Amino acid sequence: MSSTTRSTVLTGDRPTGPLHLGHYAGSLKARLELQGRVEQYLLIADAQALTDNAGDPARVTSNVLEVALDYLAIGIDPRLTTIAVQSQIPELAELTSLLMNYVTVSRLERNPTIKEEIRQRGYERDIPAGFLAYPVSQAADIAAFRATLVPVGEDQLPMIEQTNELVRRFNATVAAPVLVECAAMLSTVSRLPGIDGKAKMSKSLGNAIALGASPVEVRKAVQAMYTDAQHLKVSDPGLVEGNVVFAFLDAFEPDVEKVEQLKAHYRRGGLADSAVKRLLEDRLQGMLAPIREERQRLAADRAAVLAVLRQGTDRARERAASTVGAVKRAMGLSYFA
Ligand code: TRP
Repeated sequence: MSSTTRSTVLTGDRPTGPLHLGHYAGSLKARLELQGRVEQYLLIADAQALTDNAGDPARVTSNVLEVALDYLAIGIDPRLTTIAVQSQIPELAELTSLLMNYVTVSRLERNPTIKEEIRQRGYERDIPAGFLAYPVSQAADIAAFRATLVPVGEDQLPMIEQTNELVRRFNATVAAPVLVECAAMLSTVSRLPGIDGKAKMSKSLGNAIALGASPVEVRKAVQAMYTDAQHLKVSDPGLVEGNVVFAFLDAFEPDVEKVEQLKAHYRRGGLADSAVKRLLEDRLQGMLAPIREERQRLAADRAAVLAVLRQGTDRARERAASTVGAVKRAMGLSYFA
């Protein structure tokens, strides 16, 4: 693909904690693969994270650098991928407020992701307005960067749909289209379970393994992993489905054949949980050690990481400003030009 037609890819993370293996399997790995092949932007979505953390802004602000460290430690290269901090790009807020007029409250209330999140957070009718409207802010992120591809998990598909709805509505009100529609790039990996096997991996559920986890934390997490409650004796046949250890091997053991053999052995009986866990632990320790070392090295020079964020944010801001400038001109909001 020539450089003029190559895709612009945007993804984002809410900085409410350091990133973990669920993020790695679900999206960070894909971003590494895209790096250098597309024009890639990573947005640290602190403004979006504030929509349900307004009472505790430090929870968000203290994690911006942590997320940046995670990106850099896994090999995101700021020369190939632009890392930007959402709140430091006022044009994103400006575009959000303009786009807000192209969506109704009832449409926002029908967004299935928002509905589910409202339920999870127990908001009932006491929903922060910013939270209900965060799909508009996310649409503004995507539209401002003129992203053509947005890698997402299944749960984010309604956001893409709502973004394109807003883009079409806006374009229909101006003389010539200004904003571009985007396509979702649906991740093929299934969601990594938490170590308890119950829900998805999440820091707030306490079932996550952070990318910067210490060797002892990794060992403890693997030992605590849910396997098969009926697999009591080594000789018992065991269940692979719903077994967290095998879900992790599927995600992180590149030797697929070896994993298949282990599964067959486990199903037949005669393979101890402790033996499979030992294999998984070796794999994870080997994978996480260089990430942890790089993270520690980078964390020792905060100023350098902040400089990377500032440069990325400046670059991203230029792109957002050019889009928002075009939007305002198209609307006639350009009295002094
Ligand atoms: N909502 C996304 C999440 O929770 C984060 C996000 C913010 C995002 N802005 C974005 C993702 C723009 C893709 C594109 O993970």
